[in-house]
Amino acid sequence: MKLLITGGAGFIGSNFVQYWSKKHSEDKIVILDKLTYAGNLENLKKVEKNKNYSFIQGDICNKEDVEKAMTGVDVVIHFAAETHVDRSLYSQGLFAKTNVIGTHVLLEEAIKNKTRFHHISTDEVFGSLPKYSGEKFNEETTYNPKNPYSQSKAQSDYLVKLYHQEHDLPITISNCSNNYGPYQYPEKLIPLAITHAIKGKKIPVYGNGLYFRDWLYVEDHCKAIEVILKKGKIGESYCVGGLEKDVNNIEIVFKILDFLDKDHSHYEHVADRPNHDKRYSVDWSKLKKLGWKPESDLETYLEKTIKWYVDNQKWWEKLLKKK
Ligand SMILES: NC(=O)c1ccc[n+]([C@@H]2O[C@H](COP(=O)([O-])OP(=O)(O)OC[C@H]3O[C@@H](n4cnc5c(N)ncnc54)[C@H](O)[C@@H]3O)[C@@H](O)[C@H]2O)c1
Repeated sequence: MKLLITGGAGFIGSNFVQYWSKKHSEDKIVILDKLTYAGNLENLKKVEKNKNYSFIQGDICNKEDVEKAMTGVDVVIHFAAETHVDRSLYSQGLFAKTNVIGTHVLLEEAIKNKTRFHHISTDEVFGSLPKYSGEKFNEETTYNPKNPYSQSKAQSDYLVKLYHQEHDLPITISNCSNNYGPYQYPEKLIPLAITHAIKGKKIPVYGNGLYFRDWLYVEDHCKAIEVILKKGKIGESYCVGGLEKDVNNIEIVFKILDFLDKDHSHYEHVADRPNHDKRYSVDWSKLKKLGWKPESDLETYLEKTIKWYVDNQKWWEKLLKKK
């Protein structure tokens, strides 16, 4: 099988490439990545010498790049996107271009050969749940995105569904909760907090910090995608989420400070993000019926992630210097 992985040099994409290469070494993997600030070839060092691996630096919005990358491909797994909510607040055009137009260019190329298309999306398309409510998002939840990032992801989901309905493209979609793990660019909460704490800088926490997230270790996400590729029903969406009940941002920050032996004064409240989603929580029972469930508990795998950032300080310091 030949897979095209868009955004394979980013956080989840590179973890997926490593996971797949190890488990399915006979498969050919082509990566198409623009190498924006979030894409990093160092994330792919472990696989770059594999004979079945090739990398194309290119843009999903560019038809020629996409045509070249999709030659002979059996399955597209589409990770490439602009992904940081804060950046989307002042770069709406870029988010619309990459996440919506880029997905459209890929879909247009995919319909030529009815190539199987798996779209990586987010639970943020559903908007926000009330705090302390016990409610969860599932595949039937109405989309209600609240910021330019989640709006652009919602639009891309609609496009993917349309290409299935109108053009019979064999698609699946996964809407996953917040991921953590190695190789995540140090702007999202967990790597930002770890790198600040290691540097002895105060960790910035939005508002009162009582924002609840559903955390999933990145390898569990990779396994979920594998199950959907193998057993998912064409045309369907699958929600993917973590083991733990609601965990708020302050709790995450305290866990990180505790592990690094820093006291709890090493953080500061900063002005809140506008329209900040209060709570995400995912019901993954549909995917459980296909045989998947999250395996990694937050306590163990957060520690593992912190250790990775401690051991790979050069990796993230280089990125911070480039900023
Ligand atoms: N990180 C999370 O917690 C999370 C959760 C659920 C879903 N998702 C989704 O998973 C996917 C990957 O997220 P991530 O956190 O790994 O992102 P990331 O920001 O770490 O990586 C994005 C990658 O896409 C590439 N890219 C950006 N624009 C491109 C373009 N125009 N052409 C080609 N490549 C381009 C970047 O260079 C980078 O390698 C995204 O679609 C995101 O919406 C992320």
